[in-house]
Amino acid sequence: MPTSATPQHARIRTLEGYHEAYHLSTHHPNEFWAAVAEPFTWRRKWSTVMESDMAAGETTWFAGARLNITENCLDRHLATRGNKLALIYEPNDIKERHLRLTYRELHQRVCQFANVLLNNGVEKGDRVCLYMPMIPELTIAVLACARIGAVHSVIFAGFSATAIADRVNDAQAKLVITSDGLNRGAKQIPVKRVVDEALETCPSVRKVVVVEHLGWPVQMEEERDVWYHEEAEDVAKTCPAEEMKAEDPLFILYTSGSTGKPKGVVHTTAGYMVWADYTFRNVFQVEENDVFWCTADVGWVTGHTYLIYGPLLAGSTTLMFEGIPTYPDAGRFWEVIDKHSVSVFYTAPTAIRALMAEPLDNVLSYSLDSLRVIGSVGEPINEEAWHWYNEHVGKGRCPLVDTWWQTETGGIMISPLAGITPSKPTYAGLPLPGVWPVLLRQDGTEVEGNEEEGYLAIKQAWPGIIRTTWGDHSRAVQTYFAAYPGYYFTGDGARRDANGLYRIIGRVDDVINVSGHRFGTAEIENAINQNPNVVESAVVGYPHEVKGQGIYAYIICREGACKSEADKPRIEASVIETVVAEIGKIARPDKIQIVTGLPKTRSGKIMRRILRKVAEGDTTTLGDTSTLLDPAVVDDIIEGAK
Ligand code: WTA
Repeated sequence: MPTSATPQHARIRTLEGYHEAYHLSTHHPNEFWAAVAEPFTWRRKWSTVMESDMAAGETTWFAGARLNITENCLDRHLATRGNKLALIYEPNDIKERHLRLTYRELHQRVCQFANVLLNNGVEKGDRVCLYMPMIPELTIAVLACARIGAVHSVIFAGFSATAIADRVNDAQAKLVITSDGLNRGAKQIPVKRVVDEALETCPSVRKVVVVEHLGWPVQMEEERDVWYHEEAEDVAKTCPAEEMKAEDPLFILYTSGSTGKPKGVVHTTAGYMVWADYTFRNVFQVEENDVFWCTADVGWVTGHTYLIYGPLLAGSTTLMFEGIPTYPDAGRFWEVIDKHSVSVFYTAPTAIRALMAEPLDNVLSYSLDSLRVIGSVGEPINEEAWHWYNEHVGKGRCPLVDTWWQTETGGIMISPLAGITPSKPTYAGLPLPGVWPVLLRQDGTEVEGNEEEGYLAIKQAWPGIIRTTWGDHSRAVQTYFAAYPGYYFTGDGARRDANGLYRIIGRVDDVINVSGHRFGTAEIENAINQNPNVVESAVVGYPHEVKGQGIYAYIICREGACKSEADKPRIEASVIETVVAEIGKIARPDKIQIVTGLPKTRSGKIMRRILRKVAEGDTTTLGDTSTLLDPAVVDDIIEGAK
């Protein structure tokens, strides 16, 4: 094994090269990452590569360096790729014209947007929240924030006004960017109205920039709201990039954990940049002429890293799609691939499962000849979906990469490198260079050897590791670093096969993954408990054919609220309405069961294991129920579930 890293290690091309890079990255991480980071544009080089105390939850990467990530995404490419396509936008409506922007055009648009933000009082370090459809201005606005050193916090445009307000207030955002409305298949949603409602309780927000998209009339609040197209009219198309420190925050992205309130995961500038670029190029084995399509919404981390930052850092062409896979029909994804000659396609198992349920003609009537690599992300991909995707989309000739990672990891952690390292159905495979996974027992000791299972943890800091949770560092330490000191704890369970490949089994904490969206059970329970008919609730996940996991809610009604069977539908509808208002449609329970009691231990803890079994429809192996306060409750719940 070589002991010194060279710039060649930044791009793996063979299995041997992978092993070499892996060895170097774990034995000589500072040297390895210095070599990988070399080709970026730095205003000033780092003084140390990595300093990390995992037990304390403290890590820095490239300390001392100065840079701006947009200079690396845009300016750096102008000389050689100025006329190359940077962004292709495919609208929801097939009849509307798509849009293509070259690197030069994207650079200008980002600078223009950055100037509008500056003119509206945004300063370095200010937080800007974005609540927008999947339109080019979303990508442009994200980069505009980064250009001037503002911290972006994108809120998925399916969240409710209450959820927006929680996030805006937590980040103390000064400005919000939104649009008049958004398209989702056959539906149109008045986005600005949702923002207006949210901002009634957000005193930190001074300005709202509204991007015109549907041409809908909106209520503009004087002094506060401005139209983007009016503001952009006479501003310059150049804007100097703010010089940032390596560890200055780049963005906040809220995600759910096992405790009630979603937390703002913070990623910083230099480490995230290196990780996004490195993982993108190596996992997908990207070549100069690739057209890369990541179907994730920019509201989630996958959209951040693999729709915006990864592809643009690498100088690739990225495709952004406003619509949904089933509109106008279930052939839309495949139509878009043929239309734009997409060569790398990255989507989620939930989309695959939804499309699998449709007649096969929807996919067989497209050629898909341009495809070279296909990928999956967000949740475990079941064997049937893996094979369908491999056979009908990849045509058995495109490597399929099942990529495991998290909002907190910034980029892909465990995955095949397309065509280089092994790809095995339902396995994410080998760790990327820089990633040192271990399986832990409940007592925190490491499980040695293969053919084993355990809690998945990471033993060494990688460049994209979560730095903090916004406004509350102790929460980050508590959640990720204190459970097993010396490790980053993922919250997932995993299995390691005879060849050292990892299979992700699922969450071991109280997080449910619904169609690739994370929710804490406590978060949904808190929402349900806002309903005046409810005294208490317990939420669990259960296997769902399309969504991966569905949401099953057990509720106890207030006395007198549910007198007979006839009251049930009304109560259920009202509980759903509450969840939609508190969180958004994406967190709507799939099943609600009204119960008279919940299975609790004598110390008052809900035994979720039992509720999960009932929700799964498996009541034969409930395990020991003798420690329950009132074992009879279980029989009533089983009876009620029938
Ligand atoms: C799950 C999405 C199995 C996992 C990038 C993780 C996966 C959570 C996979 C993070 C995969 C993600 N196989 N499970 N390939 N990818 N997960 O933060 O449980 O939205 O902890 O990040 O999704 O979800 P998040």
